[in-house]
Amino acid sequence: MHLTGTMKINPQGHLEVGGVDTVDLVRDFGTPLWVMDEQGLRQNCRKIKEAFSALGDSLVLYASKTLSNLSVYRIVKEEGLGLDVVSGGELYTAIKAGFPMEKVYFHGNNKSREEIIMAIEAGVGRIVVDNFYELQLLNACCEEKTKTQNILLRITPGVEAHTHEYIKTGQIDSKFGFTLGDGQALDGVKAALASSALKLAGLHCHIGSQIFEMESFEHASSIMTDFLGTVKESTGHEFDELDVGGGFGIYYFPGDEPRDPADWARAVMNTVGAKVQELGIRMPRIIVEPGRSIAGPAGITLYTAGSCKEVKGIRKYIAVDGGMTDNPRPALYGSKYLAVIANKALHKPFEKVSIAGKCCESGDMLIWDALLPEVEAGDILAVFATGAYNYAMSSNYNRLPRPAMILVNKGSADLILKRESYEDLIRNDVMPDRLNPAD
Ligand code: LLP
Repeated sequence: MHLTGTMKINPQGHLEVGGVDTVDLVRDFGTPLWVMDEQGLRQNCRKIKEAFSALGDSLVLYASKTLSNLSVYRIVKEEGLGLDVVSGGELYTAIKAGFPMEKVYFHGNNKSREEIIMAIEAGVGRIVVDNFYELQLLNACCEEKTKTQNILLRITPGVEAHTHEYIKTGQIDSKFGFTLGDGQALDGVKAALASSALKLAGLHCHIGSQIFEMESFEHASSIMTDFLGTVKESTGHEFDELDVGGGFGIYYFPGDEPRDPADWARAVMNTVGAKVQELGIRMPRIIVEPGRSIAGPAGITLYTAGSCKEVKGIRKYIAVDGGMTDNPRPALYGSKYLAVIANKALHKPFEKVSIAGKCCESGDMLIWDALLPEVEAGDILAVFATGAYNYAMSSNYNRLPRPAMILVNKGSADLILKRESYEDLIRNDVMPDRLNPAD
């Protein structure tokens, strides 16, 4: 069992988180249920912030695509982090949460004109410009609004991070950013510098997600710093900021070997520090954008076990009341998770069972071959490390309402996301009059 944050097994033999018995959570809020450990979240923010600030001028942005929610944004704000948003929706949530706009960085490879105007008017700290089309569009929007905007340029450094194909982003053949190798990046910098409405504060890159090798971060940092040198040589311009993205890996399953945030900080800060000296350029403020490593380990999902099907000599399936709708990662990436029976946490695991979701497709499996004690209908299954990219990527497939999310801390449990109702599911359905003749 891999317990993080405030998770423990209490004297009743139940899984407890934030000082709250998960059996009580299920009684009070039902299942499926996303549970976030507030202390765990805060500790994760602090560890990363402290690791980087110990080594120099830095800013940690929470990559809010991981888990975007008013209460989560409020916690992140209280911990003194900035915010990476990637859409009008995330920006709207940040505005409503009262997040300081100067600490908001707006990403995205195809921001709409409406999103750009919204960001300029909200006064976001930086817009991270992804491509030439956006550079022009943003410039035009700023001129129209007679505003100047601080920006970063997203550069594709050509670094292959060792992670799942769908979540690596720094390689040359990528939809993101200005490519470094073919001169596009330098042309982008020159175009940005030529604009009077845009102030180029720095550069950005992001090489992928769920990365364990610190060498990948060193490599990207080194390439990006070399490019700072190239820009200085070619234009005389020096940057205030270098943003090297997120991607710090976490523990889901045996074989995952997460590093200490201090290792990440050293890999980035020391690499950039040594390079700037060598190149005779100014040390920029270092920015990082962790998402998974903040929200992931702080979340668990609780389900109720239901039907059981045994295929003699092959496999035993236990179905739970959620699945790919609340956690699409196993179906999408083949991601592996660990689970316990929360109401039998001290019972000896002795049989292999596979945990199925309740959606109408065979691929809706949460865990293959989990080693668990005897699972009976009504037992509570707790899946670990579901705080990142679960709610964020959830759906209403099969018209399943999304679960509620609870924030637990020091023995209290607060609702931070309401469970969807059937009424919510049809809220945006419209029936034209001709399909509903009055008779
Ligand atoms: N910055 C940028 C520009 C990003 O694109 C991302 C993630 C992050 C920061 C945060 O990366 P993190 O620290 O969370 O690894 N849905 C996938 C992950 C996609 C990551 C997208 N970008 C998953 O469930 O594994």
